[in-house]
Amino acid sequence: MKRYMFDRRKFLGKVVAAAGAGIFHLGGQAKSSEKSIPPHSVMNPATESRPARPVSEWMEGRITGRCSVPRNCPGWAHNAVFYQVYPQSFYDSNGDGIGDLQGIVQKLDYIKSVGVDAIWINPFFESPFGDAGYDISDYYKIAPRYGTNDDARELFKEAHKRGLKILFDFVASYTSIDHPWFKASALQASNKHSNWYIWTDNIWLDPPKRFQGAFVKGYGTRNGQYMQNFYYCEPALNYGFDVPDPDQKWELPVDHPDVLAMREEMTNVFRFWMNMGADGFRADMAGALVKSSGASGNQQFFSMRGDGTKQFWQHIREILNNEYPDAFIVSEWSNPVAALDGCFHADFFHWFEGYNDLFQKESWRILNGYSEGHSFFDPDGEGSITFFLTRYMEQYQSTIGKGYISVPLGNHDNARLGNRRDADDLEIIFAFGLTMPGVPFIYYGNEIGMRQMPDRWPQVEGAYRPRNGARTPMQWSKGRNLGFSTAPSERLYLPVDPAGDAPVVASQELDPDSLLNRTRRLIHLRHVEPALAAYAEFVPLFAREGKYPFIYARARDNDVILVVLNPSGRTAEATFDLDLRFSGPALLAGKELELINRNGTVSLTVPGKTYAIYRLS
Ligand code: NOJ
Ligand code: CA
Repeated sequence: MKRYMFDRRKFLGKVVAAAGAGIFHLGGQAKSSEKSIPPHSVMNPATESRPARPVSEWMEGRITGRCSVPRNCPGWAHNAVFYQVYPQSFYDSNGDGIGDLQGIVQKLDYIKSVGVDAIWINPFFESPFGDAGYDISDYYKIAPRYGTNDDARELFKEAHKRGLKILFDFVASYTSIDHPWFKASALQASNKHSNWYIWTDNIWLDPPKRFQGAFVKGYGTRNGQYMQNFYYCEPALNYGFDVPDPDQKWELPVDHPDVLAMREEMTNVFRFWMNMGADGFRADMAGALVKSSGASGNQQFFSMRGDGTKQFWQHIREILNNEYPDAFIVSEWSNPVAALDGCFHADFFHWFEGYNDLFQKESWRILNGYSEGHSFFDPDGEGSITFFLTRYMEQYQSTIGKGYISVPLGNHDNARLGNRRDADDLEIIFAFGLTMPGVPFIYYGNEIGMRQMPDRWPQVEGAYRPRNGARTPMQWSKGRNLGFSTAPSERLYLPVDPAGDAPVVASQELDPDSLLNRTRRLIHLRHVEPALAAYAEFVPLFAREGKYPFIYARARDNDVILVVLNPSGRTAEATFDLDLRFSGPALLAGKELELINRNGTVSLTVPGKTYAIYRLS
């Protein structure tokens, strides 16, 4: 056993005081007065309402190589890399201008060749597409524009043949306004679905102020206002209120028989797709089920006061553990402490300011009108890793052995990472994303450096900026519609990138040094290096406010990986403690640096826009 003697300073990292409901009561200030509301317009109380601890508290850990593997997590997930497919923009197999399931089937070999293990596909169910298919009108049917249920069956089968898993998008917190359940619930006459949505009992009386902006009035023949969960066309399903307000008789308890009946139906939905061959799901707005009468504003989306939302997902997880033990589920919650408490295998940690700090802090980059400042991953070198890291460590320390945090490498709700970044900048981002703990998700097209399209791009199906500019068709080859579709270009779901040098798969396949091939090498590294397993220990070593580089270790038993990231355009220097005996650090990726190790203190100089991944032995 190698000797780890890294405990020179005392380890001060403390586990977040309380799991679950308790943590949400803590007061305090968000990072600053800067506004940074994600496109959801949802502030995350788990991460926004408490003061950040100084990063030094987390930096003084020691490398032990000890790891804790989450229980009931399928083995394949521990080294898995996921790929996100936005179905309308991936590949159009029948020339109607919109991507479809057969198109995904035809591109499975490509996805496999990227080296990923699993795919998450955004919603493909029947929908009026007021929110790009998140607004579902039939949970049991593939939207005709994507194909049929038989196509879905074939897709699952073809993916499995290639050793790929597929997660569907489970939108459990609301339906489309066009869903027959909602139409029935909007009727004056009481019926089976009347209580499946949250309705007040008098259209002329506004609900209490704390719900401001969340209710819509004047729909249907029913005398009441309904609660929306996101857009007006997305009425919230009724999971009840954790502590119903006695003055608001329309607030039902979580165990009301109609609430339970609706919940039961949602478990049928989940089983339906699992039985068809899906390997798990991504849960949309997973924290937005049970409502809290004690919460105000957007906080109600996070169900902070009670455990009702968690209990629903724990129930689903129990079914999963018993009936589909090889399946994997990931939440859009951005509250790992809650989400990994017996609910999900992984949680996306991106709806918080620290995520913006990484990739999209500049107002021109995030384009949602709220954020300004500098990204850490930017050649200007004006950003800081510390706020992200502090928030991350709070959640990480509290969830070790319970599940995984995922810091997604882009998605359909944010501007593209390739927003005025070149291949070298993007490679450093991938080096980060593919060496962090947890499960990486790569948004389609980011592996070739697809760029963010400007604001003037059509805002279709609820894709207001910046989402419209991040959802354009996949760029397969030079030529007509960049190989996405044979339709006339004006019929495409969204126009393709018109730039003469738009990155495309076909050219990058031929270039060993393309971003695509560099990404493949990094994914391969993640698969083969034991210390890059999702559960391997994570120890920040050099992370200073407003400074570059960012340096950390990953460790599993005797295997230790050192990651050095300098995305800034300037040379950066670091000195840090590493009381770990190693002789020849072996460079695995990036550029060779000179590491000077004097009695456990390592110094190094990192040129601008440079990273290095070493194995220490
Ligand atoms: C999150 C989804 O990712 C986003 O695209 C959608 O608009 C909202 N949830 C509402 O479902
Ligand atoms: Ca099509």
